[in-house]
Amino acid sequence: MNSLINWIDARFPLMSLWNDHMGQYYAPKNFNFWYYFGVFSLVVLVIQILTGIFLTMNYKPDAQTAFASVEYIMRDVDYGWLIRYMHSTGASFFFIVVYIHMFRGLMYGSYRKPRELVWLIGMAIYLSLMGEAFMGYLLPWGQMSFWGAQVIISLFGALPIVGEDLSLWIRGDYVIADATLNRFFALHVVALPIVILGLVVLHIIALHEVGSNNPDGVEIKKKKDENGKPLDGIPFHPYYSVKDMAGVIAFLIVFAGVMFYIPEMGGYFLEAANFVPADPLKTPAHIAPVWYFTPFYAILRAVPDKLIGVVAMGGAIFCLFLLPWLDRSPVKSIRYKGPLSKIALFLFAISFITLGVLGLLPATPMLTLVARIASVIYFAFFILMPIYTSIESTKPEPERVTMK
Ligand code: HEM
Repeated sequence: MNSLINWIDARFPLMSLWNDHMGQYYAPKNFNFWYYFGVFSLVVLVIQILTGIFLTMNYKPDAQTAFASVEYIMRDVDYGWLIRYMHSTGASFFFIVVYIHMFRGLMYGSYRKPRELVWLIGMAIYLSLMGEAFMGYLLPWGQMSFWGAQVIISLFGALPIVGEDLSLWIRGDYVIADATLNRFFALHVVALPIVILGLVVLHIIALHEVGSNNPDGVEIKKKKDENGKPLDGIPFHPYYSVKDMAGVIAFLIVFAGVMFYIPEMGGYFLEAANFVPADPLKTPAHIAPVWYFTPFYAILRAVPDKLIGVVAMGGAIFCLFLLPWLDRSPVKSIRYKGPLSKIALFLFAISFITLGVLGLLPATPMLTLVARIASVIYFAFFILMPIYTSIESTKPEPERVTMK
């Protein structure tokens, strides 16, 4: 074994890669529950790629046969139902774990210097993931695939001058059609997975360059022992590799529970209208995107003007990119921030969840009012951040990480 490793090492930096990222990568010793979700995201990424490969073997990207090929996978392909449910459950779980992963970043100020690039790359992953999920959803060619895509792509038509041409260009036809299905298939199966994989590698390289943050927001590299090892750090392998393994087993049990017993999740993971083949002549009574897009969809609908709505929806995502520069607090973690930051983060989380629920419901005047209030809170969190993070009094950050 040793001579094989030496042989490889003379030709490829195997041991130095292993040491830099596992054996000699010192991670803070106070990671908590919230720090599992990066690794869960990696697990779901692998699940999606593997199941996607097998789905592609039997799926047909053709408007005439796409719907039937999915039914064929569900009924006739050996374990096709399992592979498809893994992939559809994986799509929703991807967003669940990534949203929790991002929320952890908000709580502990993981986007702050020196981790701005880790955050920005993360945001690029999030955007790519949204594109990936949106295009994947067209592939079963059900009613909601068709009409959901129709609604979202026609939004581009609201942009001045280029709008109409842009949505025509994206669709490749005057309505969602075979050309759209073909290009979305290519992007979903080849282009975006490559982009996402590449970005995830960059995400980890950037993180390991600066080192992980932790629930106290203390920089462990500031206090080192005589060998230059962080006093509050422990080698990632074996300590966190083993701990993560236990977390992954628990995660997979939950994942399997949903996949085997409630794969449709009451119509939230797989929508009822999508069990009906796409019909360009019959608009479903109620069109709503899948749950992970609904917070932004609710912001869009809360604004009476279509163009301003589209800008607000884009702005809601763009704000997240600016976080590293909006937060002026002298401390990183919510543990040591003042009451204003705590209230702001709490209200932000509530507004995001409220918008998510509202985006699933038909827009009545009452609910539109609630969506408007929630949208104002959502944006206020970002716009007022430079003010409330600089005027409030904070608790002193400890010198060393705390272990409760
Ligand atoms: C495919 C999606 C993603 C994967 C596989 C992934 C993977 C990881 C992993 C393995 C870690 C280290 C473990 C941990 O801290 O939990 C991490 C850290 C981090 N990720 Fe992600 N990530 C993804 C998406 C995102 C997104 C969308 C964002 C934010 C916009 C983000 C922001 C961060 C930040 C700021 C850290 C450092 C956290 C800290 O040190 O406190 N990630 N990511």
